[in-house]
Amino acid sequence: MKNIKACLFDLDGVIVDTAKYHYIAWKELANELGFDFTLEDNEKLKGVSRMTSLDILLSIGGIELDEDKKLELATKKNDNYLQYILKMGPEEILPGTKEFLEVLRKEHIKIALGSASKNAMLILERLELTGYFDAIVDGTHVAKAKPDPEVFLQGAEKLGVAPTECVVFEDAEAGVEAALAGGMKCVGIGSSEVLGKAHLVVDGLHKMSIQKLGLLD
Ligand code: G6P
Ligand code: MG
Repeated sequence: MKNIKACLFDLDGVIVDTAKYHYIAWKELANELGFDFTLEDNEKLKGVSRMTSLDILLSIGGIELDEDKKLELATKKNDNYLQYILKMGPEEILPGTKEFLEVLRKEHIKIALGSASKNAMLILERLELTGYFDAIVDGTHVAKAKPDPEVFLQGAEKLGVAPTECVVFEDAEAGVEAALAGGMKCVGIGSSEVLGKAHLVVDGLHKMSIQKLGLLD
């Protein structure tokens, strides 16, 4: 590997499927507020911060609330979501993740997390993956959400590598845009219809290899 010195990973949808738990918790909140929230609606929340997610949900229900009430509802949703997160274990790590992280370690490629989630540390602990990461940047560290590149630029800085030496792994369109805006390479995890701007799109980390990473070098 000539130029690639680090890989930066989004968490939700790349390393673990937390979207299903976000969905249950947001749906319960919507139902309490008197409207339905579909799986299709849930797609709009991927990669989006907690408060922006709430704004999207409220606009689906046609509800306007003041900031205090919104904070109260976001806290309520998160408390509910945490019940599911706290039950998670390493068996929920998405296929191929550990194997790929091991390969990167062997190749001396640095590893960072770049997630919008404020629960990222807790989730990594539950998955017993914390030790793999040389740097962790999450929703508690950044002021600007994806598609702003802040989360990935902070990750590169913490690792001491240039953005051009980084490859980002992302499942959300806003995340791919963030990586590109930061001057980084990007591997989309999911469908090329949604993530077409990425340099490479694969179904999941189980489809990654050092050879494929080399194609981006
Ligand atoms: C990730 C998920 C989003 C979620 C966001 C904030 O980006 O893809 O669906 O809204 O994190 O998560 P949090 O755990 O802070 O509520
Ligand atoms: Mg994601």
